[in-house]
Parts: sequence; C-alpha cells; structure tokens
Amino acid sequence: MSILIGDIAPDFTAQTTEGEIRFHDYIDGHWAVLFSHPKNYTPVCTTELGYTAKLKPEFEKRDVKVLGLSVDKLEDHAGWAKDIEETQGAALNFPLIADDGTIARLYDMIHPNADDSLTVRSVFVIGPDKKVKLKIEYPASTGRNFDEILRVIDSLQLTAKHQVATPVNWENGDDVIIVPAVTNEQAKEKFPEGWNELRPYLRMVKQPGA
Ligand code: BEZ
Repeated sequence: MSILIGDIAPDFTAQTTEGEIRFHDYIDGHWAVLFSHPKNYTPVCTTELGYTAKLKPEFEKRDVKVLGLSVDKLEDHAGWAKDIEETQGAALNFPLIADDGTIARLYDMIHPNADDSLTVRSVFVIGPDKKVKLKIEYPASTGRNFDEILRVIDSLQLTAKHQVATPVNWENGDDVIIVPAVTNEQAKEKFPEGWNELRPYLRMVKQPGA
C-alpha cells in the first residue's frame, strides 16, 4: 500500500555509510529527508549527492536530517563516495543507506512499469511527529531540484509554526496566506500588524519572522 501525506513514515533498520540506523530513532524530534537513487555509479545521482552534501548547512539551519538510499552494497558506497568528492567537490556528509530492496519496496520506490529493479527518484520529507509531509517522485533520468526541496521545507515549517500557507511560486520572504482554519479573531492576535484581505478567504500577511 502506498504511503500518503499524513501517514506515519514506516520505521526500518538500515545499514548506512555512517553505521546502523533505526529510522524513527534517527528522526528523534527533527525534520528528515529520505531520498532514493536508482543506482550507484550513475551520472545524475552523482551530481545530486554532491549538491546535497554542499547544502548541508542549509539543512542544518532548518533542523533537517538527510538520509539517502541506493539499492547497492555498503562496500560499493565507499568507492562511489570517492568519485562524488572528486567530481562534485563535496564529500558525502550524511548517511547513505545500502538497501537490499526491502526499504525501497516498503516506500514504493520501485515502479515495475518504469524499471523493476531500480528505484525512481523518490523524496519524502518527514516532520518531527514522524508523519510524511511531502512526497515527490522524479524519473531516473531527471535530476531533482534540491533548492526546491528546501523551499518546500521552509513552507512546511512556516505552516507548522505560524498557521500560514504559501502562495504560488512563493519564495522565502514573500507574503504568505493566513490558513482558512484561523478565524479573523484569532488572526488579530497572531498578526497584530494586520493583513490584506483580498477576499474573506484570501488574507495575505507579511511572512512571520522575515
Ligand atoms: C543516473 O542516475 O544518472 C541515471 C540512472 C538511470 C537512468 C538514467 C540516468
């Protein structure tokens, strides 16, 4: 059964480049990103892992723990990590799971109509409550945009903290939307500087904390 937004992310134990990890313990009240790679020693994956390593300070700023997954053996991860460092200018600095296919199947990362052995490029963002907040899938041939993943995490964290939603093409610092569940009475307390009411259901407000 596929995992949907709002579900508890299934727990698992994994062998990784940083030792054995039990997923729910690894999350431990933080945000997490779990993302899959079709295979070691493939070109697109190499660029994605290098770029994600470069983004580590950005993930840390947002209290996000990153975890990659490839259905390959741990000893193969070590050789690939060397290539990533040499070609991308950044060494792996987060755990990479050596999966035998068990976790990939648990998270529906293998799509038999695309390829019955390689994973697609899945991304799960998981909240401190261990619930799935975002799920995206890309085909193997298209590298993901990890800046977009950071953008979504910013949006998710604003919603969790301030009960605001983010409009189309929102970027950090742009105005946001007061969620419909917040009444005007409650909004007066939360946003004492006021808001721009374009419609009763469309209330724009300055991004809290911006
Ligand atoms: C890659 O990771 O580079 C890749 C994997 C499968 C198909 C195409 C590209």
